[in-house]
Amino acid sequence: MAKSKIIYNKKINDNYFTMSISASSETLKAKPGNFIMLKTNKNNLVYDPLLRRSFAVSDIEEDNIVITYKVIGKGTLGLTYLRENDIIETSGLLGNYFNCSLNNKRIAIIAGGIGIAPFPLLVKRLTKKNNFIDLYYGGKSKNDIVLLDKFKEVDNIFITTEDGSKGKKGLITDYINREYEIAFVCGPNPMMMHSIYKLNETCEIEVSMEERMACGIGLCMGCIVNLREETMKNKKCCKDGPIFNGRKVVWQNLNN
Ligand SMILES: Cc1cc2nc3c(=O)[nH]c(=O)nc-3n(C[C@H](O)[C@H](O)[C@H](O)COP(=O)(O)OP(=O)(O)OC[C@H]3O[C@@H](n4cnc5c(N)ncnc54)[C@H](O)[C@@H]3O)c2cc1C
Ligand code: FES
Repeated sequence: MAKSKIIYNKKINDNYFTMSISASSETLKAKPGNFIMLKTNKNNLVYDPLLRRSFAVSDIEEDNIVITYKVIGKGTLGLTYLRENDIIETSGLLGNYFNCSLNNKRIAIIAGGIGIAPFPLLVKRLTKKNNFIDLYYGGKSKNDIVLLDKFKEVDNIFITTEDGSKGKKGLITDYINREYEIAFVCGPNPMMMHSIYKLNETCEIEVSMEERMACGIGLCMGCIVNLREETMKNKKCCKDGPIFNGRKVVWQNLNN
């Protein structure tokens, strides 16, 4: 556990925020897909919410790491009250990471809503290496489409919203019709599952799972993801993931 200083905590729109926090030299080595856990209220005597919340490392700026968050419940609401120079308890780096040592590949990045969070850092790594990258980004409405300025280097951006307020009207999975060598996917479970059906059979698929976590370090068994390997395997999202081979995940066994 460490204490980090808030550098900024900016509102992007009514539901989405971006927060920069000071980081140790170890944390600054974050790879795309790694996550940290945060105690979400600044008063150490307040134990509600008791459990820390997990957040993908969204970007690295100088000596700080950046997270992007969507206000869902009391944990993320608590984060919105934090101000510059406040101190926050953090743990991590945690988890595994996306394969970012790719050269000359045709890559799809597929994000649903706050599932965009880990991708600015991934794109930073991949665009240096002559990869061709299409970003598919869907949300319920225009408020779910954020951080577009972080994706100026990708080759194409496809945007959809369910209400048609930005991009094409509909679901982002309806627009996946090109062939890729690898795809990186993060978003609601049904969206990730449908992305797999739409991608060509030869495409490798790495998904970032957002199972609810308690301990974050592999002790409580609260974040199990079933993988279909030679036999069915129970994997811990926090320790074995959050990045998994999407074709092996048993989507039907997940809660949402
Ligand atoms: C590896 C990982 C990375 C994550 N990265 C990010 C990130 O970068 N940005 C971000 O905003 N969030 C991220 N999350 C989700 C985040 O940790 C919180 O779970 C989420 O923001 C809700 O917390 P809360 O306290 O606001 O809501 P809560 O009060 O805990 O929950 C409110 C409601 O949402 C439901 N809910 C909460 N969390 C989840 C979940 N993970 N899956 C399904 N339903 C849920 C609850 O059942 C409840 O109904 C990540 C989760 C994981 C596991
Ligand atoms: S959150 Fe405890 S084992 Fe994963």
